[in-house]
Amino acid sequence: MAKIRVALVGIGNCASSLVQGIDFYRGARGDDPVPGIMHLDLGGYHVGDIEFVAAFDIAKGKVGRDLAEAIAAPPNNTERFAAVRPTGVEVRRGPTHDGIGHYLRKVVIESSQPVDDVAGTLRRTGAEIVVSYLPVGSEAAARWYAEEALRAGCGYVNCIPVFIAKDVQWRERFRKCGLPLIGDDIKSQVGATIVHRVLANLFRERGVRVDRTYQLNFGGNTDFQNMLERERLQSKKRSKTDAVLSQLDEPLSDDEAHIGPSDYVPWLTDRKWCYIRIEGTTFGNLPLNCELKLEVWDSPNSAGVVIDAIRCAKLALDRGIGGALLGPAAYFMKSPPQQFTDYEARARTEAFIRGEAEF
Ligand SMILES: NC(=O)c1ccc[n+]([C@@H]2O[C@H](COP(=O)([O-])OP(=O)(O)OC[C@H]3O[C@@H](n4cnc5c(N)ncnc54)[C@H](O)[C@@H]3O)[C@@H](O)[C@H]2O)c1
Repeated sequence: MAKIRVALVGIGNCASSLVQGIDFYRGARGDDPVPGIMHLDLGGYHVGDIEFVAAFDIAKGKVGRDLAEAIAAPPNNTERFAAVRPTGVEVRRGPTHDGIGHYLRKVVIESSQPVDDVAGTLRRTGAEIVVSYLPVGSEAAARWYAEEALRAGCGYVNCIPVFIAKDVQWRERFRKCGLPLIGDDIKSQVGATIVHRVLANLFRERGVRVDRTYQLNFGGNTDFQNMLERERLQSKKRSKTDAVLSQLDEPLSDDEAHIGPSDYVPWLTDRKWCYIRIEGTTFGNLPLNCELKLEVWDSPNSAGVVIDAIRCAKLALDRGIGGALLGPAAYFMKSPPQQFTDYEARARTEAFIRGEAEF
């Protein structure tokens, strides 16, 4: 099978987990145990068919270095679970735009290297799919890279909560260019969002009314440090809240549903802790409350989903399908163009992978 040529934007913890994961699962075959991966083979593409051909960042310790070294450079602090061999891909300097927030100004020192011709590099390296891992709040930077992807003829996987696939005009532009778009805001493997959605569905299907709920999240990585800046996390909070509320018949107000990133605890490093509480009313108008805590390694928890999203985008390229992929977006992302239950989104994604018309 042909390789899938991928360009990465933002070489932080998530990119680190993704790059390590490709090496980690490359040799896996058939019945090998592959925790964290939903499809070892997806539509004929093995995990190891993903190849990184270009990478962009702005940080001094990352720009100019091989991707394999850059993923280990501070302030990245996720778990190292695989030794990554040199990739031959040098991280290039992207334009900063609004990529550095207030709390990271002293942490992320900008590279003094000249800004790259990003679309030119994408073309020259034969990149087919751009994966965006920019920080939360990078509204201008996210749109700029989506524009470069269009200019270079690349599909786009938008892992961050800046609304691109959700925006009808962006969807139309990708469709007209025959380029696939999967977004927005990656939904982790078994993360806070999908656990909360499944519980909300359980309440709904079993006839228990949800009266109020919260989801409090905190971790010790730069993603959480950046999100201390409340102005930057408006779209993240909206994305996380809507992902859960979309599963209810009776919508809750923002006062009744408090869902979002909550704090930064440095010693957790790339671990994330999440507390969910749902208060409902059941038979006889009696109260029914549910409470749980989830502990995960934050960045590796979404890498397996991105690996599937990349391969779905590649299948779309192979089949000449452009624009938003509705089923895969609903399964892989918190803020897709159209929400379904996770069961239906999964069925649509599997139908898409099999090449059936309806997806
Ligand atoms: N499970 C998860 O970790 C998860 C889930 C959903 C969404 N996300 C989102 O994925 C994104 C990345 O998360 P992360 O943990 O890797 O963050 P991170 O802070 O570790 O990495 C962000 C990287 O982007 C770089 N950057 C900043 N501005 C840039 C620019 N203009 N051009 C190129 N690079 C730039 C930074 O230097 C840094 O290396 C965040 O928006 C996060 O909210 C993560």
